[in-house]
Amino acid sequence: MQSTSAFPSLSAQEAVAFIRHGDTVAFSGFSPAGAAKAVPGALIERARAEHEKGNPYQLRILTGASSGQTIDEDMARAGAVSWRAPYQSGAALRKQINAQQVEYVDMHLSHVPQTVAYGFFGKINFAVVEATEITLDGRVFLTTSIGASPTYLQHAERVIIEINHRQSPRLREMADIFIMPPPPHRNPIPIHDPLTRIGWPYAVVDPKKVIGIVESDLPDQTTEFSSPDGVGKRIAGHVVEFLMDEVRTGRIPDTFLPLQAGVGNVANSVLAELGAHPDVPPFYMYSEVFQDAMADLMASGKLLGASATSLTLSSSRMKRIVGDMDYFVPRIVLRPQEISNHPGIIRRLGVIGLNTVLEADIYGNVNSSHLYGMDIVNGIGGSGEFTRNSYLSILMAPSIAKEGRISAIVPMCPHVDSNEHSVQIIVTEQGLADLRGLGPLQRAQRMIENCAHPSYRDYLWRYVRESRNGHIRHDLQRSFELHRNLLEHGRMLPEAVSQKAEVKKSP
Ligand code: COA
Repeated sequence: MQSTSAFPSLSAQEAVAFIRHGDTVAFSGFSPAGAAKAVPGALIERARAEHEKGNPYQLRILTGASSGQTIDEDMARAGAVSWRAPYQSGAALRKQINAQQVEYVDMHLSHVPQTVAYGFFGKINFAVVEATEITLDGRVFLTTSIGASPTYLQHAERVIIEINHRQSPRLREMADIFIMPPPPHRNPIPIHDPLTRIGWPYAVVDPKKVIGIVESDLPDQTTEFSSPDGVGKRIAGHVVEFLMDEVRTGRIPDTFLPLQAGVGNVANSVLAELGAHPDVPPFYMYSEVFQDAMADLMASGKLLGASATSLTLSSSRMKRIVGDMDYFVPRIVLRPQEISNHPGIIRRLGVIGLNTVLEADIYGNVNSSHLYGMDIVNGIGGSGEFTRNSYLSILMAPSIAKEGRISAIVPMCPHVDSNEHSVQIIVTEQGLADLRGLGPLQRAQRMIENCAHPSYRDYLWRYVRESRNGHIRHDLQRSFELHRNLLEHGRMLPEAVSQKAEVKKSP
């Protein structure tokens, strides 16, 4: 292997001296996994120093999806972010976005590479990409995520590589990097099962664009999942029971279908529950993020193989994988997000998509991203791509939030991330509504009876009864009454019971 020594070695502080106020910087990372860490840390110091001198210093920030503490919390707190895409999950950044201090482009994650390639984000001034190695001819071996890094390396004007000595060089054995040609030159992507490999173990960069290498030893800023609580377990129980019924009726083959699971504790609980169920056969996953429960299931032999774009693992699970690469490498493929979330492949493989939402309406439209249709929580992420294209699209939420002051089942969602035409199954701890083949009124009945919390059922029934007739019954004067009540009075219904123990939702 050729060495990296021909590239200038830079300290993180020297590297950020090149980055000017107003630049667009594309960082590696999909979730905290594989995120550039040393350069963003130094950018925070630089932003603070500039601000102290009275100079403006803010950047336009791209990553694969969300990032870790340094970019989505600390950098935002330093006032160093003016624009952000395509997803985030940091409290500080969220606050600034909702205060209109940071402009945010919330988008389907598989669209990012094409959006960059065709210039809709403008010029990418810098890519800052974490790797275990770069060769003199420009092969870049990425770390715990692929995300959009191959595209950023291709399109950025200048590139800084963070060589992270903590990350295992064997991670490259999981990478399968393929960049789609522009339309109309896109042949069918020959992925026929979750583990098919079609690309290379490295991304490519023009070495002339690389201004230097920054050495680092910083860990991915991931966190441990908490153990599932009662609500999470009950949601998981309904999902598992439903999937087993689908196997019994022949709608899912005995060999099962590949699963996708969204991020978070509820999805993690469902996976753990599936793994523990004696009748669920060993299965594959075609997903976005490889998370803790998947590592456990793979170690036990229940998860046969997984395709993802990131290894977003707590340090204990990461240690386990790195400690047994001979076992895990042949079972995990890490792909660019354009491929991990590709609609055509999701449809071809017959994926079962499991994602979490904030709320669903009685007709099956779901909101995953915007409280009251206004305030962003995280973003749509990959949920739209999987929900629209999966063989079975399952959306989950606790039936109530904030100790019963909020119902997750409402007459109309004030923001819709996936609509009734894509959503098939909705699950709360109360039960499961299979909406397939149902017209709007039948859907409403199933949603209210099976998914709504009992303290909101009368209201929802009254809403349906008193609404204007039409294919879909609505009363436009009242469709957002619950949300208006919440904003004005802090609760959706004055009479809805507060059931502290009952409603304690999944963390
Ligand atoms: N109305 C108002 N507030 C609500 C609410 C509702 N219907 N439902 C939840 N909330 C509040 C919660 O109480 C919580 O408030 P807090 O931060 O003050 O505690 C906050 O909104 C976040 O909700 P929570 O239930 O803790 O979120 P979560 O961690 O379970 O995640 C989503 C749920 C929907 C936010 C998350 O799954 C997500 O971002 N999804 C979209 C992206 C996605 O699905 N990615 C995976 C695809 S591969």
